[in-house]
Amino acid sequence: MDAILEKLTNPGFDLEKVRSDFAYLELEGPIIYLDNAATTQRPNQVIDRMSDFYRFENGNPLRGAHRLGAAATEAMVNSRARVAKFINSKSVREIIFTRNASEALNLVTYTWALDNLKPGDQILITRMEHHSNFVNWQFAAQKTGAELSFIELTSDYQLDMADYKSKISERTKVVAFSAASNVLGTMPDTREIIKIAKQHGALTVVDAAQLVPHIKVDVQDLDCDFLAFSGHKMLAPLGIGVLYGKAEILNKISPFQYGGEMIEYVEDQSSTYAEIPYKFEAGTQDVGGMVGLATAIDYLEDVGLTNIAEYEAALADYCVAELEQLPDLEIYHPRQGVKGPAIAFNVMGAHPHDVATILDYHGVAIRAGHHCTQPLHRYLGQNSTNRVSFAFYNTKQEIDLFIEALHDVRDIMQLG
Ligand SMILES: Cc1ncc(COP(=O)(O)O)c(C=O)c1O
Repeated sequence: MDAILEKLTNPGFDLEKVRSDFAYLELEGPIIYLDNAATTQRPNQVIDRMSDFYRFENGNPLRGAHRLGAAATEAMVNSRARVAKFINSKSVREIIFTRNASEALNLVTYTWALDNLKPGDQILITRMEHHSNFVNWQFAAQKTGAELSFIELTSDYQLDMADYKSKISERTKVVAFSAASNVLGTMPDTREIIKIAKQHGALTVVDAAQLVPHIKVDVQDLDCDFLAFSGHKMLAPLGIGVLYGKAEILNKISPFQYGGEMIEYVEDQSSTYAEIPYKFEAGTQDVGGMVGLATAIDYLEDVGLTNIAEYEAALADYCVAELEQLPDLEIYHPRQGVKGPAIAFNVMGAHPHDVATILDYHGVAIRAGHHCTQPLHRYLGQNSTNRVSFAFYNTKQEIDLFIEALHDVRDIMQLG
């Protein structure tokens, strides 16, 4: 506990300065925002950069010959380069802008999966997937006749690697998994999962929506085929996301959506398509979101991804230790290994929505529900749970207030 408290006191970055960048902390009736896995807050720098884009660089990218069209195109090109550098992709062409992680994962389903899967093939996903990396694979299985199988969890809410090894075979054509659970905080050994998938010739799809905001990601080091994430979970605006894909695969697969800017030549009865990534970006793109994302990346790197990972881990460990002191509380979060800053729990005898509502009276914002993971909740034996999830702008004091408010829940609900 000493090391945790030391990290919370000396996070390795200027926490006060960071907090001054987030306007929501100036609201009257302070908000303790512990719902970062749903969406993070945005620092002023991101909002200002987007505002500047719409004020001074607003044209339709890739179209206008005029100065403002060129400015928007340049903003798009620079933002793509920033994302490529951030996740260390070999080429900027491997970065496809989408609306969010869900759309990025759907892109893989509608293109690679529908073109390549057939009856007898196996799709392997995990028990802890968000619906965004679950329902799309159900759809692919239903459309192609492939079988959908699941890697189960251990009693410590870790991915069961023995179960994985027992289920993967030459029939497995794709392993699609979350690198960090939005409910449990579980962070499986992504590199090892990919290595084993490759040994069996399976494609790998990483749902990194809850990983990229917290830990440095290097797609070349991971050697994944696809990796998806959302800007809004990492300080960027709602409505911008990324699909990374290896160029050799992207070059081979069909377009996702059809229309403007994704074509090369259009004849009466057929068309040829633009080079990657434009082949996958039909219609006018959200350049305001892209510049916001690029600025969010600058911000995260200024604070330092290592600082962020260590500080958030200390917040989560401290919170779990405090939750463990409370009676009649179930915690759904691994106690061993690397884990992300999301912790699900239930106050026995109190409905999660009642808990969240009472906490809201105290200004504490947490999530209640199934968090888009109904199959995981069935496995947990719960219809719903509460979830706290941290970002690097949260503090120990905020966790203390959250725990105090949980005591009030017990009083109000007369839980003894
Ligand atoms: C692990 C995980 N994957 C995918 C998603 C989908 O993200 P989005 O709603 O931004 O598409 C989420 C969102 O909560 C998530 O937590």
